Amino acid sequence: MSKTFYLTTPIFYVNGAPHLGHAYTSVAADVLARFKRLDGFDVFFLTGTDEHGQKVEAAARAAGVEPQAFTDRVAADFADMARRMKISNDDFIRTTEARHKRACQAIWQKLMAAGAIYLGEYAGWYAVRDEAFYDEDELIAGKDGAKLAPTGAPVEWVVEPSYFFKLSAYQDKLLALYEEHPGFIAPAAKRNEVLAFVKSGLRDLSVSRTSFSWGIPVPGDPEHVMYVWLDALVNYLTAVGYPDEGDEKFRFWPADLHLVGKEIVRFHAVYWPAFLIAAGLPVPKKVFSHGWWTVEGEKMSKSLGNFIDPRPLVDEFGVDALRFFLLREVPFGGDGDFSRKALISRLNVELANDLGNLAQRTLSFIAKNADGVVPARGRLHEADLALLGMAGGLAEKVREAMERLAFNEALEEIWKVIRAANGYIDHQAPWALRKTDIERMNTVLRVLVETIRTIGFLLQPFMPGAMENLLTQVGVPAAARHFSDLETTLVDGAGLPAPSGVFPRYVEAA
Ligand code: MSP
Repeated sequence: MSKTFYLTTPIFYVNGAPHLGHAYTSVAADVLARFKRLDGFDVFFLTGTDEHGQKVEAAARAAGVEPQAFTDRVAADFADMARRMKISNDDFIRTTEARHKRACQAIWQKLMAAGAIYLGEYAGWYAVRDEAFYDEDELIAGKDGAKLAPTGAPVEWVVEPSYFFKLSAYQDKLLALYEEHPGFIAPAAKRNEVLAFVKSGLRDLSVSRTSFSWGIPVPGDPEHVMYVWLDALVNYLTAVGYPDEGDEKFRFWPADLHLVGKEIVRFHAVYWPAFLIAAGLPVPKKVFSHGWWTVEGEKMSKSLGNFIDPRPLVDEFGVDALRFFLLREVPFGGDGDFSRKALISRLNVELANDLGNLAQRTLSFIAKNADGVVPARGRLHEADLALLGMAGGLAEKVREAMERLAFNEALEEIWKVIRAANGYIDHQAPWALRKTDIERMNTVLRVLVETIRTIGFLLQPFMPGAMENLLTQVGVPAAARHFSDLETTLVDGAGLPAPSGVFPRYVEAA
């Protein structure tokens, strides 16, 4: 049996339409999921929608629709966005599904039985936008002096009966977890933030609400609905069959990776493992926090109305170019700025010029001057060995970067080889060899085809459509594109399909 790998995106709130920020988390997770599948892992990749809570209820009300009808509509839109971004999720979970209600209620009962939940009264600050409780000393002053959450979200004073989770009792266990598994939270700066937060002391967490009803009823006390974050986090268990621990999908638990935006690390790295420890379940192996995108230098916000829907960008630039841009432009973990100019520049320089030209120059030359077949190679020169050596070591370098979720470093390693291959063509000048030394010309072309093939293999997770096309053009059968197939080589004299451009240059309409 191959090793399992379970990774998740956060489940998206359905109070608004999908935008570039959501697409980002999803693309990153998708690239990793595809990478692991090609690398021989038994992958389970989950995404979905977070449909309960006060914020979604309010959005439905504002739209004049029943919450369920409203969430059906928006969840379908998120599923469409995932499809258009070529997200290869194995399941799409919605927290309004019956299977999820069952899992949440089962966890609740587990926590109750363990003595980790008690009934009390909550009096404190709540930010609906963040669906989060805040302490007085965490609040900041807004422009007009109004109290705001540290995220800038408005807060309201809430007094209501509430069930509490004994978070305070898990402080030491959490600290021990971070200590024993230093990789549990990444990048390191985030880990330090979480550590400081937990060390400063944890208060019990309110885990039910009575002032609205759009949520999962608390077993035995249906006046209460579960706190939306408890409900939401449990999705990761629901999807693998919980509470049926005998379900064949439960073999994926614990999750290997929860990919999350930086603003929701606390929920995943503090509350979630505490719930799991209390319920006697194994905790996930890693929570990785990524940064935020601004758009043309501005934060995306309702007031500016500058949310970017990725789908029109897919129509205009192609899904592969957009996926590439998102992971190439900024180190994963840091923040980035999206601009058309930057996207077009990446597309034209790195995709059209570097990679597109390498493929086009090589393949059209073979079609015209080498009978359109895989050229046989003769004795190898030093320059050939150098390029083949770079290509041969590439998979390991990329794998190492992917382990760290350093997508842009993985791409940079690949681009080093692409640039070297372009330099090699210029230097070896097959067009000149055509007149003087056909065997040498064929050797050079063969070295290039092998190099392009390796590049195509390793870029598949990032740009699945374009690489499907490219690998077909260099004669790699569709069934032989796993990384283990890199060991085999192309067959001398095998016919190659007629070449066609992989990445056309983007010319902005005047
Ligand atoms: N519903 C919760 C997650 C529950 S997981 C158990 C939630 N949803 S969200 O829709 O607000 O955000 C989902 C993801 O989108 C987060 O990882 C968040 O960081 C990401 N992004 C939202 N806006 C973003 C940007 N502007 N840039 C990058 N990612 C951003 O939180």
